[in-house]
This record gives sequence, C-alpha cells and structure tokens, in this order.
Amino acid sequence: MKNQEDKFKKVISHAKEYGYIFQSSEIYDGLSAVYDYAQNGVELKNNIRNYWWKAMVQMNENIVGLDAAIFMHPTTWKASGHVDAFNDPLIDNKDSKKRYRADVLIEDYAEKLNLKAKKEIAKAAKRFGEAFNEEEFIRTNPRVIKYFGKRDEVLKRMAKSLENEDLADVKDLIIELEIACPESGSKNWTDVKQFNLMFGTKLGASADSAIDLFLRPETAQGIFVNFANVQKTGRMKIPFGIAQTGKAFRNEIVARQFIFRMREFEQMEMQFFVRPGEELKWYEHWKEKRLKWHLSLGLGKDKYRFHDHDKLAHYANAAADIEFEFPFGFKELEGIHSRTDFDLKAHEEHSGKKLQFFDHEVNKSYVPYVVETSIGLDRMFLAIFSTSLQNETLEDGSERTVLRLPSVLAPTKAAILPLIKKDGLPEISRKIMDELKYDFNVIYDEKDAIGRRYRRQDAVGTPFCITVDHKTKEDNTVTIRFRDSMKQERVEISTLKSLINKEVSIANWFQDI
Ligand code: GAP
Repeated sequence: MKNQEDKFKKVISHAKEYGYIFQSSEIYDGLSAVYDYAQNGVELKNNIRNYWWKAMVQMNENIVGLDAAIFMHPTTWKASGHVDAFNDPLIDNKDSKKRYRADVLIEDYAEKLNLKAKKEIAKAAKRFGEAFNEEEFIRTNPRVIKYFGKRDEVLKRMAKSLENEDLADVKDLIIELEIACPESGSKNWTDVKQFNLMFGTKLGASADSAIDLFLRPETAQGIFVNFANVQKTGRMKIPFGIAQTGKAFRNEIVARQFIFRMREFEQMEMQFFVRPGEELKWYEHWKEKRLKWHLSLGLGKDKYRFHDHDKLAHYANAAADIEFEFPFGFKELEGIHSRTDFDLKAHEEHSGKKLQFFDHEVNKSYVPYVVETSIGLDRMFLAIFSTSLQNETLEDGSERTVLRLPSVLAPTKAAILPLIKKDGLPEISRKIMDELKYDFNVIYDEKDAIGRRYRRQDAVGTPFCITVDHKTKEDNTVTIRFRDSMKQERVEISTLKSLINKEVSIANWFQDI
C-alpha cells in the first residue's frame, strides 16, 4: 500500500515537473479537483483524443462525429433523469466535519477485504511454486473464502439498499462494519442524504428573464437530442453510431486521486443505434472492440479487466466497465452500456418530437435501442501516464527515470540536439527541424551536456533524440537514439522522416484492432 502511494505521489510530481498537469489557479492556492493541462499535457491529451476519434469515427463507415454545445435546454436533464436521479449518497463525519460518499466508504472497505484475499493467494503461490493451483486454492482456502464471501455480501447489501433508496440501511452498514473517518478515525456519522451532482448556472441578462441551466454532466445527451438531425442529414441507416468528445461537469463531493475524479473533465462517448432485439449482440461487439483498442497501446493485457454490473441502472439491460490497474488499484476506466430505448423515448415524450427510424428491411418504424461506449479522457491520460512512468537501474548502477509513453501518443516525437552550440551544428539542427516539423511535433534543445539532454527527453517521454555532430557536416548522417532501449544508430538525414513515421504512424498501431 505504501509503495502504491509513493508511486502515485511520483506520478503527480512528475506530471507537474515535466509540464504535463498543473493544479488549476495554483497561484491562488488552487481549486480542488480541477486541473490544467500544461504544454506537454495538452499534446498528450490531444493525441489520445485523436487516437480514439480515428478508431471510432474514421475507421467505421457507419459512425459519424458531433460537437454539441455544453449548454442544453433544461428539459433535456428532466428527460434524461438527471434532475431527479443523478445523486450521490453522502455522509458527514460529525467530528472531523468531513463529507464522504457513503458508497465509496463501503467500497473501500470491500477493497481491503479483496486485498487481504489477494495477499493470501500471492503467499500461497510463492509457497507452492509451480504446483500451485490458484482456482482450487480460491475455492478451498478458508481465509480466502471468508474474505471474498464478506466482500460480496457487503457489496450486495449496499447495492440492494441503494436500489431501494434505503439510505438508513446504508448508514447501518457503515456502523455495523465499524467504518471510521479516514481523516480522524471517528465513527460518529450523520444520516446518509442524496445530493445532486449537476452544476447550475443562469442564461440571460436580467434576473427576471434568466433561465436556469445545467452544465452538462455527460456528453451523451447532446447525441440523443441530435439523433433525428444526424440520421436524416447523414442518411444514416441502422445500425449506426454518433461519437463526440467534450467537457462534462459534476459536482463530485469526494473528488480525489488527482485527475481520476474531477469536477470538470472530458468524455469520449459513442452512441450506437440498433434494431430492438439486436442490442445484446452489439453490446458484446463493442465490449470486444473497445478492449482491443486499449490493448493496441501495449500497456499490458493484465492491466485491464471487465467488471460486469450486478446492479443495472433502470434503463439498462446490460452494462460492464473496463477497469484499469491504476497506481491505487483496479478502477473504472470506461463503461459499455446497453441503454435500451430509454433515452430516445424519454426525449420523444418530453419534446413531443418523433425520434424514430423507418427500417425498410422490416418495413416499420421504431425507436432504436442504444449501445453506448463512454470513456473519460482524463482517466485514459492517467492510465497511460502512470503506467509509462518507470524508474530503471542501468548496467552501470545509475538510475534513470523514463516515461515510456506509446510513441504514437508522445507529445514530442523527436528532439533535435546539436552536440555543441557552435561550428555550424545548430544551423544544421534547425534545418532538420524545419524538414520534420510539418509531419511531427519536434523540438530543438542545445542547452546542457548531451547526456543530460537525453535524460531530460527520457523523462518527458520523447521517443527519439537526433544528435548532430561534426561527422554530420562530412557525410549528412546523424545519431538517432531510441528512448526505450537507449540504443544509438548512425543514419542518413534523408531517412529520418520514414524512420520516425514507421514508429509513430497510427496505421501501424491500429493493425490489431
Ligand atoms: N454517458 C454515460 C456516462 O456518463 P459514467 O460512467 O458516469 O457514464 C463515463 O461516465 C466515464 O466518464 C467513466 O468511465 C469515467 O472514465 C469518466 N468519468 C466519470 N466521472 C468522472 C469524473 N468525475 N472525473 C473524471 N472522469 C470521469
């Protein structure tokens, strides 16, 4: 646990030190759970968004994009259910005056049981070596049975109480489990209350005529209200999808874990409209497709797992999360939801407009069913950044910090470095830069000794360093150094573009998806 915390602290400080993420309004002591993406962060974020957009929109003939406004007619949120039901169950600790999400306190308790069981399994695996049968051990070991059993029981009871709006039982559960305030250790709790997560604002100049608006808490509703417009103007036939990326806002009470849970964040969502009755087939299809997209980035297969929801939202008939192993454990990264016809039907009812599709193949009109894929861009950023940040001990015993970002996503693809600041080497370097900058984001750096400049680029995550030296003047060759292996090769300047392109082109990274 201590190790995980240390690693996470390193992630946060590295993100600041190397120009990826700053606390918002830091000079005024910051704004809690709001962050700014700095010079390198914005490039990485743009590249992730682009990697998603290309996979979802450009690679699928039947998916188109959209960029709906953040402000929407207030009835949207009545129809979607957000006004009445987009709540978190909150509880206050009377001694520390700290406010918590009751469900998160219980989930954290369950996670501790999970970790205890995992520890037992890891210990046994070490003890028995090759002969270890994990499945049988989990099935028969009394301690593991006890931990997993208790974990499941706790989560089940919480899910049931939340579903039945039985907040008194959620509190009882916290008391029975003797959950203490993480800050003060006190078990002196208030009752659990529901709290709506939408941010309100006003539209209009005068107080009398102003109307109440909400900042959108998800991008999906912008897609639903545009369903008929896009279908008609794009002459889309079912099945088809609409994708969009953009900001969403939630007044998260327990906002923590850096950019994992923010109050202002960005989503990348796609709603796929299908014939009723075919939604579960498409649900499986998108589960598989989305996992392949993740795996294409090479962060490691064991970093991902599916979590199928036991408790379904009232509008869903299937739902799963793709969870990722963040430095603080496995947590939701993306959701895939079969949302039935709930949203389009609700908008039909509230707007009085038809949101249907005439299907010539079956010769009838219907409200399409929807399968949604929804991923947080900031969470994806954190997944990539935290996994890529590594500390290595080199052969000579020295340490290096390297950010092994997938090269297709790295903010800067190459750094052009003149060995020294004279003898015409800077001029040749600038010329190389001018040739490469149309295709790639490249930088020039002449400050400090070459070894220090390499290390700096390793820490920023730049996949290639190109060094110009005196030999370059004689034969038009440069040294190219690879971030991950630290190997160096002598290559002709004229081959640089294709060499870099081979490594960073999306076409190569998309081969298996
Ligand atoms: N339209 C469906 C929807 O919004 P969600 O599970 O509430 O579903 C989808 O959100 C994704 O958005 C999550 O899997 C997560 O990656 C991201 N997300 C949600 N709340 C977030 C927050 N407060 N900060 C950062 N990302 C968040």
